[in-house]
Amino acid sequence: MGFPLQRPRRLRRTESLRRLTRETRLTVDQLIYPLFVAAGADGRQEIASMPGVHRWSVRSVVDAAGQAADLGIPAVLLFGLPEWKDAAGSGAFALDGIVQQATQAIKGSFPDLLVIADTCVCEYTSHGHCGVLSGASDPDVRNDATLEVLAGTALSQARAGIDVVAPSDMMDGRVGAIRRALDEHGFEHVPILSYAAKYASAFYGPFRDAADSAPQFGDRRTYQMDPPNLREALREIALDLEEGADAVMVKPALAYLDVIRAARERFDAPLAAYNVSGEYAMVKAAAARGWLDERRVTLELLTGIVRAGADMVITYHALEVARWLRQ
Ligand code: PBG
Repeated sequence: MGFPLQRPRRLRRTESLRRLTRETRLTVDQLIYPLFVAAGADGRQEIASMPGVHRWSVRSVVDAAGQAADLGIPAVLLFGLPEWKDAAGSGAFALDGIVQQATQAIKGSFPDLLVIADTCVCEYTSHGHCGVLSGASDPDVRNDATLEVLAGTALSQARAGIDVVAPSDMMDGRVGAIRRALDEHGFEHVPILSYAAKYASAFYGPFRDAADSAPQFGDRRTYQMDPPNLREALREIALDLEEGADAVMVKPALAYLDVIRAARERFDAPLAAYNVSGEYAMVKAAAARGWLDERRVTLELLTGIVRAGADMVITYHALEVARWLRQ
């Protein structure tokens, strides 16, 4: 008779069986919560394309970070919106820069919460590119001149008490340059989480509204990666690890789960995935229309990112997820 001997359904019969046989666990320990801090801001201002995400003043960002800490989230990731911008992006490495101020304020109130800084200049440059340009309207970013700016930015963040620096610019050699600068100045204990495989993605749209960092001309395709490429991502990750990256990142996450999986199989280093602004906005928009169950969809997506091989996930949903996981 044709009755099946193997019945996988036996282990799915009850919630207790499903819990015991679950292969992937999403936990609060894996979450990193991004925060936007704006100079001269008062209180908080919601970002239109990212419901539930705000630009915070230095004072109020401490409360936002405190919420994350209270929920057991181990880390926040800071982005700064400066009062002024210039061609060199010098607000990124100003001693009293916005991220530097926010770092001091947060660490002063929540010393155990890990504060990670996005190390890039696109929020600070008048042209919106992630480095120093060859000419006033030439979108070609000068690689080696930018390395000095990035190293100076990482150093000023370390001086402000940052726990981890996360370079997101995609210049060649930035991890090595940052590592050398940190080591030369006594910050050999500060780890580098590098945005190693960062693609030139349309999913960053809402972020650029939030951080006011859209390029004023041209695009980022000469420095961020071409979306069709996987082997190149592995090469980028290998280079960053050789240069001294302590942990690496794939970004965005959802259209790049194969990259996360391949990176996990090839490298031993801790691996982060960035569930970016556009991925968040899609879920929020559909949920607002009642088209998707936000909680179930979000947990399913984040579990998928972890199942693909990510050890940690940067997500704007972090507070909500931490609450859902408690229930
Ligand atoms: C800065 C930076 C960006 C993001 C993180 N760091 C924007 C960009 O490269 O254009 C995107 C994050 C997101 O979309 O959530 N270079």
